[in-house]
Amino acid sequence: MTISLVPFRIKDHLQRTGELASFAWPTVSSVVQNGNPQALMEEYVRLAYLDSTWSSILKMDNEIIGCIFGTIRPKLKLKSKWHILKRMMALPKRLKRGDYGHINNPQEFYFKFIETEKKIAKLAKKDEAESMLATIDAEIRFLVVDKEFQGQGIGKQLVEAFLNETRLNNCHAVQVQLDLQSNWRFFEALGFGRIHEFEDPLNSFIEGTPTQSFIYYREI
Ligand SMILES: CC(C)(COP(=O)(O)OP(=O)(O)OC[C@H]1O[C@@H](n2cnc3c(N)ncnc32)[C@H](O)[C@@H]1OP(=O)(O)O)[C@@H](O)C(=O)NCCC(=O)NCCS
Repeated sequence: MTISLVPFRIKDHLQRTGELASFAWPTVSSVVQNGNPQALMEEYVRLAYLDSTWSSILKMDNEIIGCIFGTIRPKLKLKSKWHILKRMMALPKRLKRGDYGHINNPQEFYFKFIETEKKIAKLAKKDEAESMLATIDAEIRFLVVDKEFQGQGIGKQLVEAFLNETRLNNCHAVQVQLDLQSNWRFFEALGFGRIHEFEDPLNSFIEGTPTQSFIYYREI
């Protein structure tokens, strides 16, 4: 059995990570009717990847069983920001055209997505201006481990690999945004603490009921 950590590549790894994400966040996939929900999850993975500066795929005998994207904020280049903006601007058209299958009220879905992003950005600004926390200069953007391989220390290994990278870059603190479907207990086991809890517009839209999301934080 060969285990390797390699950088993520859209061309080679997007489909499999989209599949892993579909299993991990089934309610997001459930908004797609008459289509391929994986395509929506692939878009989500792509956007998270574009917003990251470091990535790693864990392969076991050539099968991808885990993936992590992290961002070291000062390293995020203007070029990447432009790529994200372009992709985000194309999203309403793609949603309406049915690129991901039929979604009820695609316009509202997009607005709620933007509203969530804005809420998170506002919280980050507030932290920067007012809080006693260490400077948050790193973020875990995406993390998933194949269900079959969970509970064997793989998630921890992936987070540790990113934390090593943040230490090399003299980062102070790392954050991660989690929703109720995400495994926040895992992050608590790794020493992260909850610093924000907010009503998440996109998840509330998807769930059809007010739904909370969280920001977790850990000093490096
Ligand atoms: C989060 C996730 C990647 C964790 O991967 P994993 O390989 O199963 O986790 P590990 O086996 O490395 O667990 C590391 C530690 O967390 C603890 N842990 C993991 N899940 C836990 C849970 N649900 N409750 C309590 N502790 C938990 C483990 O007991 C272990 O503790 P230890 O170091 O003291 O032994 C995996 O659960 C997953 O893919 N979840 C769905 C996607 C998700 O939530 N991603 C995070 C948001 S970006």
